[in-house]
Order: sequence, then C-alpha cells, then structure tokens
Amino acid sequence: MIARFEFGVAALFVSSTLAAISPGVGVPLNSACDTVGELSCDNFSDSILQCEAVGCETLWQLKTVCPCGTFCQQTSGPPQCVPTIATTTTTTTTTTSTTSTTIGASTTATTAPLSSSTTQSASISVSGSTTAVSASTTTTTTTTTTTTTTTTTTTAAGYTLIDVYDSSNILSKVNFFNGTDPTHGEVDFVSEAIAIADGLAYTSDGVAYFAVDNHTVYWGTGRPSVRWSSQATYNTGLFIFDIAHMPTGCGTWPALWLLGSGQTWPYAGEIDVIEGVNTDTQNSQTLHTQPGCTFTASEMNQTGTLEFGDCNSANGANNNLGCGVANTANNSFGVGFNAIGGGVYATEWTNAGISIWFFPRDAIPSDITAGTPNPAGWGIPSSNWPFGSTCQASFFSNMQIVLDTTFCGDWAGSIYGNGDGCLGGTGLAACDWFVQHSPTAFDDAYWAINSLKVVFIVILVYKL
Ligand SMILES: *[C@@H]1O[C@H](CO)[C@@H](O)[C@H](O)[C@H]1NC(C)=O
Ligand SMILES: *[C@@H]1O[C@H](CO)[C@@H](O)[C@H](O)[C@H]1NC(C)=O
Ligand SMILES: *[C@@H]1O[C@H](CO)[C@@H](O)[C@H](O)[C@H]1NC(C)=O
Ligand SMILES: *[C@@H]1O[C@H](CO)[C@@H](O)[C@H](O)[C@H]1NC(C)=O
Ligand SMILES: *[C@@H]1O[C@H](CO)[C@@H](O)[C@H](O)[C@H]1NC(C)=O
Repeated sequence: MIARFEFGVAALFVSSTLAAISPGVGVPLNSACDTVGELSCDNFSDSILQCEAVGCETLWQLKTVCPCGTFCQQTSGPPQCVPTIATTTTTTTTTTSTTSTTIGASTTATTAPLSSSTTQSASISVSGSTTAVSASTTTTTTTTTTTTTTTTTTTAAGYTLIDVYDSSNILSKVNFFNGTDPTHGEVDFVSEAIAIADGLAYTSDGVAYFAVDNHTVYWGTGRPSVRWSSQATYNTGLFIFDIAHMPTGCGTWPALWLLGSGQTWPYAGEIDVIEGVNTDTQNSQTLHTQPGCTFTASEMNQTGTLEFGDCNSANGANNNLGCGVANTANNSFGVGFNAIGGGVYATEWTNAGISIWFFPRDAIPSDITAGTPNPAGWGIPSSNWPFGSTCQASFFSNMQIVLDTTFCGDWAGSIYGNGDGCLGGTGLAACDWFVQHSPTAFDDAYWAINSLKVVFIVILVYKL
C-alpha cells in the first residue's frame, strides 16, 4: 500500500523552470490540438479576444475558456477563471513548498520537496488557498540562469492529491446508508454502528474491509450488508481506487461507483467504476444519465466492448441499463480479480470526457505507484466516453464515491441461474432463497480496500 505521505510528496513536485516551458511543452499536444499560438490570448471563438485555458482536447485536459488577463484554475468545484498573477522569476535554486488544498470538509496538507533539478515554485495564491502545479511531462529543456523578466503565456497540467480514503480514516469520511435498497436487493443495509459491531466494517493491517453477514440464516428478510457514500462531493478529478479483494459469488451484486448528488437520479449522473453480479469475472463500466447522452463504439477509444449506447436512465428508460462497457480482462472482476490480489481502477473525469483504466496488481503503472499519476502514459483505457454534442459534460456533477454490496434485485436476481452456475433455480425467487439461507456462500463477499485517492487535475494558463 502506498503511504499517504509518500503520495503527497511525489504528486506535488514542481518540475523545471516554468519560464522554460514553452506552450505545448508542458502540455503534450496531440495531433488534434489547436496550434501552440492559440494557447495564448487570441481569437478562439470567432469574435472576442480571449485566452484559451486549454486549446486542445486530449482526454485528460479540462477545456475552459477564460477572458484575457485571467487563467483557469480548479481548486474545488468547477474550474474558474481567476486573475492572472504576475510570476516573473527564473531561478536555479532548489526550494520547498508547502501546499494545502481544501475541498468540502476535508483538508490535506502536504510538504512537498521540489525535485533536485532546477526548479521554481509555481504556487499561486487564490482565495486563501495555495495550489502547487506540476508539469505533466518532464521537459528536458536546459534552463538558463537569467534574471530577465519575460512575458509569455504558458500552460501546465497539475495533478494534486486532495483526498485519501484508507484504513486510517475511511469510517470518518463516509456516511452509511441504512434505507431500503433502491435496486430492490435482498439486503439489509445496516448503520455504521451495527456494521462495526457485527464485523461488517473493520480495518486490519492497513486495509479497510467491508463485508456481509456470513453466519446467519434469514427467513424472509434480507442479508445484512453495507452501503456508504463519501461525505465529500467532487466535480471532475482523477479517482485511483486500489482494491485488494472484492465481493463475489452467486447472489452478490457489488459496486464501487460515483453518484451525482443534489438532483433526482440520474440527472446528476452516475459513473459505475466496478460493478457486476453473481459469478462474473469481467467488469462492467457504465454511465447513467438524463436523456440526451449517447455513444457509438467508433467514437470511444477503448479496449472494452460497448454493450449499449444510450446512457439515458431517467424514469426507467432503457430498463436502466445505462451505456455500459464490458471489460475484456477476465481478472477485472470477481474470482479472477481476487486471485491476483486485485489491482487499481483509475477513473479520469474531466470536462472532455470520462475514461476508466484497470491495472491488475502486477501491472500498475509506476507513476501511480510513485504517486505521480499521469493518464497520458497509460495507453488506451478500458472504457472511454468523450463528451461533445451527443453527451454534455454538465450531465455529471457533485459526485460522491459510493460502495455497496447488495444481493439479487434488479440485476443479480433477474439473471440469477442463467448460465452462471448458481444453484437453486433461476430468477429472483431462487436468488432470494439462496441468499437468505446460505450464509457460508458469502465468505468471499467482502471488499478489501487499500486506498481510494482523489486527485485534482489542474490546468493553468498564465503569464510569465
Ligand atoms: C477574429 O476572428 C474573426 C473571424 O475569424 C476575424 O474576422 C477577426 O478579424 C479576428 N480578430 C482578430 C483581432 O484577430
Ligand atoms: C438509520 O440511519 C439513520 C440516520 O443515520 C438513523 O437515525 C437511524 O437510527 C438508523 N436506523 C437504524 C435501524 O440503525
Ligand atoms: C482468463 O484468460 C486467460 C488468458 O486469456 C486464460 O488463460 C484463463 O484461463 C482465463 N481464466 C478464466 C477464469 O476464464
Ligand atoms: C487512443 O488513445 C491512445 C492512448 O491515449 C492514443 O495513443 C491514440 O492516439 C488514441 N486514438 C485515437 C483514434 O484517438
Ligand atoms: C465469514 O467470512 C470471513 C471472511 O470474510 C471469514 O473469516 C469467516 O471465517 C467466515 N465465516 C464466519 C462464520 O464468520
């Protein structure tokens, strides 16, 4: 498990002298990008002169246009255009920078030594908070020692760790849900106090566990389990979920997902990161939205298989299927996942789209392990939904991280016994019976979480 401190240190380095990052160097431009010149104050939208915060749309970049004299910054909530702060120095000293980023109710403070190469602090104070920005690619430009003040516009992409959920704090950062399962599962979601008392929520050796009751036979009532939501809500970000074990087995329906809050479902959107049922070994990655969000396989740069292209799930549309992508890896879910000690699911959500990567335990990119995650080097994601005219970025907002294990219900129950090797017949009644009466079948129905990390993606354009 990556220690929180190590991650923070590595994630907050400031690379190279900013003055040496010419536009297009700090930010890797793809072939579809606008010209480098458009990254400065120009004529982007035909009529008024303005600065493009980001002139191109690689998957990991926010796309926000700010008026001249301002730059785009995201600390919490949506990106905002804030006044340009004159930054003029070029130095060859090595310094340290203290950073604190506040979002919602949580605060992460990290002391970040800069890299030993020539560096310059890029800390910019806005509204009382300080955000350190790291260039996303290593520039090899040799820095010249000079005191000359230049005026150029440049950009940098930063990945700033803002939240970590792990065994040390997770119970204090989530709220348990103890109501009726909205997906009609044969489940009894218990309160946090009951979950702790009954051994359904516990930590051990730096791992957070969320299990289900596996010792009692029930008659006519659901099996105790847990469902919780993060107290914090997020608007875009990079979510790195390091999971060592997940629930599996007949009757189970586990999920780790991002759920939009503040509006009637699904008007604030839903991103299902890890989800599947019964004896599945291939993960389903799915979006649910309001009407007006569709995808075709040809526009999705992904290794997975699009199963259904219409994300609309409002009022039961499309049987609430959502626009799901089947992961092609048979160790991405269930027994296959657990056999390899799980792995990392990384979800990148920007104003340009949503992508999910799955990395088996033995293939986690070194930048994730090192705490300097950069999706630009991760290759083709297993699922990719680009925003555009057929699906708006605004369909996703105020996301909470949600974890649950339910049983049977709308999905696991409806297909129970259909070629999945599950016993007792087919369909909901057989599933419910099995779940109530087979406690030992649920020894493997637990989550083991190393960490859930939330990283803000910050794109800056500013004058030097
Ligand atoms: C901005 O773009 C419009 C249309 O492309 C053009 O007519 C106009 O001359 C441009 N203005 C400047 C200042 O470049
Ligand atoms: C369910 O949760 C609510 C709110 O947290 C709490 O007031 C209530 O007592 C809980 N019910 C049970 C049965 O634990
Ligand atoms: C998963 O795929 C690998 C390679 O394609 C194969 O060797 C293995 O048998 C498969 N495992 C299962 C459980 O299907
Ligand atoms: C798909 O993504 C990969 C990895 O980011 C990239 O190299 C490739 O150019 C993309 N393909 C298309 C058609 O955009
Ligand atoms: C229940 O499952 C846990 C693992 O999650 C296991 O340690 C335990 O032995 C199982 N059986 C009972 C009766 O608790």
